[in-house]
Amino acid sequence: MAGGVITPATSGKDYPGNLTRSVIITCVIAATGGLIFGYDLGISALFSSLCASTITRVMGRRASMFFGGLLFAAGSLFNGFASKVWMLIVGRLLLGFGIGCANQSVPIYLSEVAPCRYRGALNQLFQLTITIGILVANLLNYFFAKVGGWGWRLSLGGAIVPALIIMLGSCVLPETPNSLIERGHIDQAKNKLIKLRGVSNVDEEFNDLIAASEASKLVEHPWSNITKRKYRPQLTMAICIPMFQQLTGMNMIVFYAPVLFQTIGFKTEASLMSSLITGIVNSLATLVSIFTVDKVGRRTLYLEGSIQLFICQIVVAIAIGAKFGFGGNPGELPKLYAAFVVVVICIFVAGFAWSWGPLSWLVPSEIFPLEIRSAAQSITVSVNMIFTFVIAQVFTLLLCKLRFFMFLLFAVFIVIMAIFMYYLLPETKGIPIEEMVVVWKSHPVWKSYFDQSSASASLEMGNKDKDTC
Ligand code: BGC
Repeated sequence: MAGGVITPATSGKDYPGNLTRSVIITCVIAATGGLIFGYDLGISALFSSLCASTITRVMGRRASMFFGGLLFAAGSLFNGFASKVWMLIVGRLLLGFGIGCANQSVPIYLSEVAPCRYRGALNQLFQLTITIGILVANLLNYFFAKVGGWGWRLSLGGAIVPALIIMLGSCVLPETPNSLIERGHIDQAKNKLIKLRGVSNVDEEFNDLIAASEASKLVEHPWSNITKRKYRPQLTMAICIPMFQQLTGMNMIVFYAPVLFQTIGFKTEASLMSSLITGIVNSLATLVSIFTVDKVGRRTLYLEGSIQLFICQIVVAIAIGAKFGFGGNPGELPKLYAAFVVVVICIFVAGFAWSWGPLSWLVPSEIFPLEIRSAAQSITVSVNMIFTFVIAQVFTLLLCKLRFFMFLLFAVFIVIMAIFMYYLLPETKGIPIEEMVVVWKSHPVWKSYFDQSSASASLEMGNKDKDTC
């Protein structure tokens, strides 16, 4: 069976490079781009990420980040000072546009800057700042709501803080060597690579970046090329990964959590306790992924996370179904019972936070060849936004109709996505980003998408030396 024989492909490359202070600081600053997404899970991001792909490719990743921060700052000002409804609408759109630009550029930036041995950990700082953004926004919303009539202005206007962080950050960040080469700044790119890796012998990696850039120059229109057969495997992932991330039901579970917190007796403090507890679990569990993803690999975390999420969805469905039934009125719910469901929800949140959450930003950002990377990342961001929106609209209605069956529906989705990942996702751990094509060419299912002569050449290269970097 295909999935059973998937072994991690190797590119045979072992680039020298350390986890330097320069790369850590760079990645921490860049990852703050996740704060704005966490602060406001905006929907209009889906249009802007498509435009951002051109900015990211032509002007560099930093320009997109800066532009994202600028739009988000403008949106927060429109909202904070709104005196008419149209200002709130414009503000809302600007926030979304800002998020689209940031989500389009930050994951790519992190994956390009990181040495391949630490790429998973450094890229996942993005998800960590998303979770911090969510936690801070929920806490602020709660406290600002108590301020009185103008508290909402503080909540909405407060979005300017993460916006300024990403704007300032993008001014001090270096451009990625990949992007500098793509735009013709060859010498600068080499110096940057030497600084980031902390070693002078970066020739092998540098030459591969040049080769990737040469190949990418042959592709004039990323948008028309992306549909070509040879990009089908990566395109499938660009669409399915963000879609599946939303179909885990994470946002629904978090949405439902305050009801349970109320039941265990938190009454008016239920929403605060819910966002505090699930928010802290979400952030802490992301650290688990950061510390393990480059050791155990992406597939292991995806599959373990899926099993954990599946079990939790089933348990929540049974627990809620048994008490609420179809009527929706549980009567007097024992506190211990509700506490148990809250614990299960926390286990669910933790499972998401070390699998589908961070990996679904990491994997798309590392699997695309340079020539279609920006365009493909836009597709990932857009699909994420479309499904966040659809689930918020459709599933809230469905929850009223289906009740606890809704959680079973998500459990079915989780089984489908786990099988999909098991059979179709190659392991990308430790493979240099510009060498990634090797994993597709040696994959039992996807190899047929590449012509045989180049596939065998690449496999030979991969087998030359079994060490990944
Ligand atoms: C997802 C969001 C989710 C958040 C939770 C992100 O990766 O895209 O939809 O709310 O994680 O931490």
